[in-house]
Amino acid sequence: MLQFLHVDRAKDNVNKQVTLAGWVHRKRQSGGVAFIIIRDSSGTMQIAVKKDKVDEASWKAVTETTIESSIVVDGTVKEDKRAPTGFELEATKFSNTSISEPFPITEFQSTELLLDKRHLWLRSQKMTGILKARSFLFKYLRDFFAERRFWEVTPPVITRAGGEGGADMFGIDFFGTKAYLTQSSQLYLEALVPALEQVYDLVPSFRAEKSRTLKHLAEYWHLEAEAAYYSQEDNMKLQEDMVEYVCQRFAKEQAPLLGSLGVDAKQLAAVTAPFKRLTYEDALKYLGENGVKKEWLDDIGAEDERILTEKESKPIFVYKWPLKMKAFYMRADPGNPEFALNSDMEAPHGHGEIIGSSERVYDYNELLDRLKAYGLAEKDYYWYADLRRYGTIPHSGFGLGVERLLKWMLNLDHIRDAIPFPRMMNRSEP
Ligand code: 4AD
Repeated sequence: MLQFLHVDRAKDNVNKQVTLAGWVHRKRQSGGVAFIIIRDSSGTMQIAVKKDKVDEASWKAVTETTIESSIVVDGTVKEDKRAPTGFELEATKFSNTSISEPFPITEFQSTELLLDKRHLWLRSQKMTGILKARSFLFKYLRDFFAERRFWEVTPPVITRAGGEGGADMFGIDFFGTKAYLTQSSQLYLEALVPALEQVYDLVPSFRAEKSRTLKHLAEYWHLEAEAAYYSQEDNMKLQEDMVEYVCQRFAKEQAPLLGSLGVDAKQLAAVTAPFKRLTYEDALKYLGENGVKKEWLDDIGAEDERILTEKESKPIFVYKWPLKMKAFYMRADPGNPEFALNSDMEAPHGHGEIIGSSERVYDYNELLDRLKAYGLAEKDYYWYADLRRYGTIPHSGFGLGVERLLKWMLNLDHIRDAIPFPRMMNRSEP
């Protein structure tokens, strides 16, 4: 392994001899001096190569190097107010690990080209910053659940039946029988509750929805949690606390990274629980007052969510949905059985839904009735129904779309930039 210094450590190594390894971000040469901006995973830094200070092979390598060539450079770190980061490396040795062909991405490229060349575009400062934020988000979510004593579990990706309606599932040939890629791990998390009481997972879910919106992926990362004896009220509190926790950690620990992505950390610092709550009925009323006529039982779509959340600066809940509109596993409110004990969390500034949640049907006979009413075959859910026969308990849970959360937190225009290799209706490459 090559021992080298990351450029963000330059400040701790002033006047020291170091080795940098990275890629050529920019190159400028005049006469016997070349300025190279090197990029590594930690940032960029200027390198000055003077013909009379390096050997012949190094100078040849500098003249031959191109944008995105991989390079290794020895030199002394100098403080230099004129350099873009305040530090410069005075090179003593320069070599190309590999000279890049002319890089196919230049300034002002079309969105389509950037998606076709995604494998190369990931090196851009924008994508690198988003990838780092995504990594921190995964860490903070896991930290939150560890602090709350939830166990991380790993449900299967290949399933026999879905939780969210079969139409949106990708079918696969499983040794000659039909199986599906999971839409949600919820039913498996419910099976893990009697073992571990409080569980969560962070794995991909797949949706074959033919939706070309700014917030639909065919493959997305789904954080789902399920907890014993949680009421829907407890469930909503858990979600608020989780969103508050990750926003606060970002605001406190990642302000420079957020700044580099054009996000003001103060906006995330202001995200504190509790969040505003709107019933489904209130939401229809609000939409009506804002020019969108809705009938009872109409769904609230992407454009409606935009209108509902546009003026908000914190997420909101839309809760108490008509039971009829919702999945078979949602528990009816015993005091008002027309409504489900459920909620969606909607992100502010027009971003819309990021979480779906509910208390679950836990009575065996009630579940059988619900399966029947939804036209679902009991045999496909035999193990799920079994959970209601052997020591059933009240429980609740939720599912968070991680890319949707990131899209809101970083104020991205499109969900595809919240994931390195987006899978969408019209794209499964690279
Ligand atoms: O609302 P959904 O369909 O709920 C469930 O899957 C439940 N089983 C969750 C649970 O209670 N455990 O999906 C949950 C979340 C949505 O709120 C959204 O954030 C995200 O998953 N999501 C998508 N994200 C990106 N692209 C898609 N096509 C998505 N579909 C859902």
